[in-house]
Amino acid sequence: MRVLSGTQPTGDFLHVGNYFGAIAQYLVFQAEHEALYFIADYHSMNSVRDAKLRREYTLSVALDYLACGIDPTRAVLFRQSDTPEVCEFSWLLSTVTPMGLLERGHAYKDKTAQGQSADHGLFAYPVLMAADILLYHADVVPVGQDQKQHLEMTRDIAARFNHTYGEDLLKLPEPCILDGVAVVPGTDGRKMSKSYDNTIAMFASEKAIKKAVMGIVTDSTPVEEPKDTKSHLFQLWSLFATEEERAEMFERAEKGGLGYGDVKKDLLRRLLDFFAPMRERRAELAARLDEVEDVLEDGARRARMLGEPVLAAAREAAGLGSAL
Ligand code: ADP
Ligand code: TRP
Repeated sequence: MRVLSGTQPTGDFLHVGNYFGAIAQYLVFQAEHEALYFIADYHSMNSVRDAKLRREYTLSVALDYLACGIDPTRAVLFRQSDTPEVCEFSWLLSTVTPMGLLERGHAYKDKTAQGQSADHGLFAYPVLMAADILLYHADVVPVGQDQKQHLEMTRDIAARFNHTYGEDLLKLPEPCILDGVAVVPGTDGRKMSKSYDNTIAMFASEKAIKKAVMGIVTDSTPVEEPKDTKSHLFQLWSLFATEEERAEMFERAEKGGLGYGDVKKDLLRRLLDFFAPMRERRAELAARLDEVEDVLEDGARRARMLGEPVLAAAREAAGLGSAL
């Protein structure tokens, strides 16, 4: 089984929700299956318009992934723009993609609904995403709920291409919705998300992490009273505790006499302990960026080896290029 997923380099450090919701699953996939993970820098052109920033953000995602344990000897980690075939493939797919399908795309719809004019890149974004997936014959694509529509479009586009030029040319991928399983709450109790400004970014400075943890919103239950163990503070704390520790902590909380401040301090200690090896590894890697570049180059070479035959077969089926 081949698993593939992409991340847009839009700058922010990964947060605890990304780690437990996505990266931890990526690690499981890489241990058990063939996995391809890429940094979608072509996609980021729809929102980031600064060349220097894009390079920085792209490298930052690579560092985050490697620090978290994405292992380039197992998974193929690459930068999308090192595989320019995906753009040609995107064109082939766009010729069988109905306008109506793209007009329903939520990224485009949201922007125009706000009265903003959209560029063609944003409109065509689901086609490039379909190319990312179909070029590598991915079987399973783990993504967040917000990307589900794009996967449905990918299947639709693949079916149309196959119908036009030959059944079995492209493989229809299965979605795998990651945050449908466990949603990590943010510091304000809503889903942790960079768009809500409620994240705990595990590669930020210790000071920033402390500020985020100590700022977790709690109710005004006095220390001596029982606490609601279903609240987001306890949910976050539980991510870093064993079953036994959790049972013990919840018993204390339900008895009363436990202050939120103490729970936060304990959470901070656990969180920093948990991420310490990854933070250390990220700092080491950041001092050896040439090695990170080598990893990405090697990843692109491996990805191209997988993608080239698929593009060649599609070109052949569509009657492009010389027949000789
Ligand atoms: P954000 O909401 O911060 O913009 P992204 O949309 O970039 O996060 O999410 C990247 C990946 O991390 C997705 O696969 C998504 O499912 C996962 N993810 C993000 N936030 C959470 C969360 N709070 N709980 C679980 N998974 C999450
Ligand atoms: N659109 C995805 C996002 O914004 C990123 C992405 C681009 C992607 N191409 C992909 C994800 C292919 C999975 C497969 O999060």
